[in-house]
Amino acid sequence: MCGIVGYIGSREAYPILIKGLQRLEYRGYDSAGVALLDKKNNLNVYKKKGKVSDLHSFAKNNDCTGTIGIGHTRWATHGEPSDINSHPHFSQNKNLVIIHNGIIENYATIKERLIKRGHVFQSQTDTEVLIHLIEEIQIHEKCKLSIAVQIALKQVIGAYAIVIIDKNDPNILVAAKKGSPMVIGIGNNEFFIASDASPIIEYTKNVAYLEDEQVASLRLGEDLKIRNLKDKEITPYIQELTLELEQIEKGGFDHFMLKEIYEQPRSVLDSLRGRLNTGEGKIKLGGIDDYLKRLEKAKRLIFVACGTSWHACLVAEYLFEEFARIPVEVEYASEFRYRNPVIYSDDVIIAVSQSGETADTLAAIELAKSKGATVLGVCNVVGSSIARATHGGSYTHAGPEIGVASTKAFTAQITVLTLMALELASIKGTLVESAFRELLFEMELIPKKIEEVLKLNDKIKEIAYTYRESRNALYLGRGVSFPVALEGALKLKEISYIHAEGYPAAEMKHGPIALIDDEMPVFVIATKGANYEKVISNIQEVKARKGKIIAVVTKGDTDVKKMADYAIEIPESHELLVPLIAVVPLQLLSYHIAVMRGCNVDQPRNLAKSVTVE
Ligand code: G6P
Repeated sequence: MCGIVGYIGSREAYPILIKGLQRLEYRGYDSAGVALLDKKNNLNVYKKKGKVSDLHSFAKNNDCTGTIGIGHTRWATHGEPSDINSHPHFSQNKNLVIIHNGIIENYATIKERLIKRGHVFQSQTDTEVLIHLIEEIQIHEKCKLSIAVQIALKQVIGAYAIVIIDKNDPNILVAAKKGSPMVIGIGNNEFFIASDASPIIEYTKNVAYLEDEQVASLRLGEDLKIRNLKDKEITPYIQELTLELEQIEKGGFDHFMLKEIYEQPRSVLDSLRGRLNTGEGKIKLGGIDDYLKRLEKAKRLIFVACGTSWHACLVAEYLFEEFARIPVEVEYASEFRYRNPVIYSDDVIIAVSQSGETADTLAAIELAKSKGATVLGVCNVVGSSIARATHGGSYTHAGPEIGVASTKAFTAQITVLTLMALELASIKGTLVESAFRELLFEMELIPKKIEEVLKLNDKIKEIAYTYRESRNALYLGRGVSFPVALEGALKLKEISYIHAEGYPAAEMKHGPIALIDDEMPVFVIATKGANYEKVISNIQEVKARKGKIIAVVTKGDTDVKKMADYAIEIPESHELLVPLIAVVPLQLLSYHIAVMRGCNVDQPRNLAKSVTVE
């Protein structure tokens, strides 16, 4: 969702901004823009609906000089995607220009007030209202920009990460944030600012993450200054980034999504590293050490998440219930936060999020904390808002995930959640030692097994070719494979725009079976396990109605293979660990189908990687 980038220093800002915006493209957007302050103190703004490349084609023929500038990718909320609604936005007198990620919820009341005072608005955005308000305060209070920003932000309700240029004070960028992420790069007499570190990493590794309700002044020739909305000075905490440039580049793959699918043996291994000790039969997740007693005493666990992370939580439900014998509820964060849920102080809430920035998940965490519950996080992005808002937690060490469709984050989440479930089981004594040890060995083998699945890519491509023109698809699974079916369907619909549904195989009879005809591909996870025979019956029901069966089966399977139009054989594993392996062919299938349909795999329409608005 909206991406922000800014630069102030002695280099030309425009190339830094355009490259930065390209790095932020993965977040999802529908328009882009830049503002540059040139040597003659002209504020040049270029903005376009469409891609960053469209903006660049347009802007490069104009004056793009200037060593101070801001850039933005917009994901429309208030007002349709259009040139006018794109950011940056000017203030009434055109002395200030702003970029903004977030939503100003009370913008309508402020706008009404400003219109009565003669303000004229060009766009339908909430952002333009905010910059008009800031300028009004600046003029009225005769104060500098950073003070006007503090005063204005006390009046607004909502979320924001903003950066402003002031024509009358050309040596400063003023930034502020609440809810939406913002990181400041500190160079040699230059500053960079962005929604995440990817536009900054090329230039400096020294960064400071801005906290909520902080206003930063990035003035040339001075150190970074941060004050909160009450004007209290805050000492910036400057840290070194561990991110490497090659982690955010495609490294020879056609798309980030494919690269990330192929990274899974490594990302699962990295998520296990240092935590799993098969020799001693032990698991140690450092980040939850202090909360083990609370976990042990908890009467239930509540998982909150969105999208693919929610699917990982559904898998976790089976793992925690089976291994640690604790009741589990899995909630969509967006529903949970508005439902007045019953939360006890001895509940443990586990929030799962790749980005660590999803607005609904963050709000669900705050709600649970306000009821006295312990909240643990499973995040991929170190230092993200969710990682900071939770009491404790464990990172998934998947590395940066750039493709909008989540792949390696999903398997890394399940890996960490499996370790958590097993650690809790060992504390509670709910698994016999031999079974526990067996599971640890099985976990260690997962990366190799994923590698084996990746070798099936050519065959999967062939299957993708057969079903590339499908209009609908059904995904079926039972038990712990049901969430895998949901995830398979989500992958297909989000990147190829084929309507797909995931269903518990037996539930098919209660609705989706009506859709089955000889054109309907039905992807079934039919690996060996307690439900195997039952799934075979469900496959028969599909076959009887001439549906096409593409089955994910255990290596060596004969029964399902006889019935299936295509079978993808995956290595055998413990039944509850199968999602880590079975999801991989489904990811590859969706990827190839989407590529064959000419879709933009890494940036599917309307979707955002990091959903920072509710
Ligand atoms: C968006 C992304 C999904 C992701 C979901 C939750 O919809 O496109 O890939 O699963 O948000 O995001 P989170 O960062 O909280 O896991």
